Amino acid sequence: MDKILIKGGSPLFGCIQISGAKNAALPLMAASLLTDAPIVLHNLPHLADISTMANLLTHHGVNISMTGEAGDGGHTGRALKLKASKIKNTTAPYELVRRMRASILVLGPLLARTGEARVSLPGGCAIGARPVDLHLKGLSQLGVKIQMEEGYVTASAPHGLKGTKFTFPIVSVGATENLLMAACLANGETVLTNVAREPEVGDLAECLIKMGAKINGIGTDTLVIQGQRTLSGTEHIVVPDRIEAGTYAMAAALTGGDIILKGPRMELLQAVLDKLGEAGVSVQKTEGGIQVKRNGKLKGVDVMTEPFPGFPTDLQAQMTALMSIAEGAAMITESIFENRFMHIPELARMGANVTVHGASSLVRGVGELIGAPVMATDLRASASLVLAGLVAKGETTVNRVYHIDSGYERIEEKLAACGANIERLDV
Ligand code: UD1
Repeated sequence: MDKILIKGGSPLFGCIQISGAKNAALPLMAASLLTDAPIVLHNLPHLADISTMANLLTHHGVNISMTGEAGDGGHTGRALKLKASKIKNTTAPYELVRRMRASILVLGPLLARTGEARVSLPGGCAIGARPVDLHLKGLSQLGVKIQMEEGYVTASAPHGLKGTKFTFPIVSVGATENLLMAACLANGETVLTNVAREPEVGDLAECLIKMGAKINGIGTDTLVIQGQRTLSGTEHIVVPDRIEAGTYAMAAALTGGDIILKGPRMELLQAVLDKLGEAGVSVQKTEGGIQVKRNGKLKGVDVMTEPFPGFPTDLQAQMTALMSIAEGAAMITESIFENRFMHIPELARMGANVTVHGASSLVRGVGELIGAPVMATDLRASASLVLAGLVAKGETTVNRVYHIDSGYERIEEKLAACGANIERLDV
């Protein structure tokens, strides 16, 4: 199993190209199930999760082929053509779904297109209970009959989906995406209230509109969808990954470096950049990118994760690594997931001083971190350990790198190109 070996202490200098967003790419790929016409997606990141979704879609009957080269149209990611002429199989089996929680995103599109679906309950990152009750409640409002048997959700809507009004009791990105996709082929109008406003939801909605869907309210907390009988094909460029950009911004800040992030949209990262500014990091817009540098000391700042446009939960662990060497203290509160502090005992092994109190962790900055062998337990936790390793004295080995590979494209190459002493060990 691969490991990442880091010799800490080198400040990062240079440019990092930000890839397409995994969390936008996955629902966009699932949307190909909604039409028999081809969908071409550009700027897809090279990630294990993308391959997992491609395998699942192929199993359902989607024909997937590479189209164009990386670099076409100025994008680094690859382009895929997805064509679901016919849905061959409406069961998403456990063997494929267990690898990735986002597999649940095929449920809405399969139901909308064929009137039936059988989807294994998902696995995914171990960051809390992560139920799918909201996906199911919303779909039953759309007229779907749902049964749970042997770990599978068996759903059917033999007479098609019916437009409805549904208010999410809590904000859910995945459930918003599933219902949005389903509602595009429902009979009549659907009004979804208290939806997730994450940019990845907006990216999906924009692609659906290009496919002929009628959607109003993108970027607000209410989406109004006029269902269509069919959707057509389109081409779409996946939005840049704001979480990847935020992670590298924090890497530059941690190491006292100066880097340019190429590609990210500043307005999608505002809550994060504001916090970095408060912490003493300089953040400037440049042509086509964002410059992040730090000369002075880092200051402790309090952070609370919230749905967009708040501070993203997917950057909470990395922010904890940053705060671990800041002057003073930082209170980091996780309001989205109930068990997202698994990086803390590992950071503590590197010398970080962090105490968890319920949903908050109190980080008291220390003078330096010391390299150690550490174990990643989920995707973003792994990223926080890589960041800590970049600044720690001595050697850090990050184990279970497959978590990182599910969400960061060539992380060690991108960091090494900016001067980090980092390599992947194939052991
Ligand atoms: C997505 C992102 C993930 C991010 C998360 C929150 C993808 C592929 N993943 O995950 O990286 O961390 O949004 O920004 O886009 N919940 C329920 N019932 C449900 C659904 C969710 O209680 O049916 C709860 C979850 O347990 C969690 C909260 O709602 O506490 C938010 O989860 P949700 O927004 O659904 O996360 P995902 O879509 O799984």
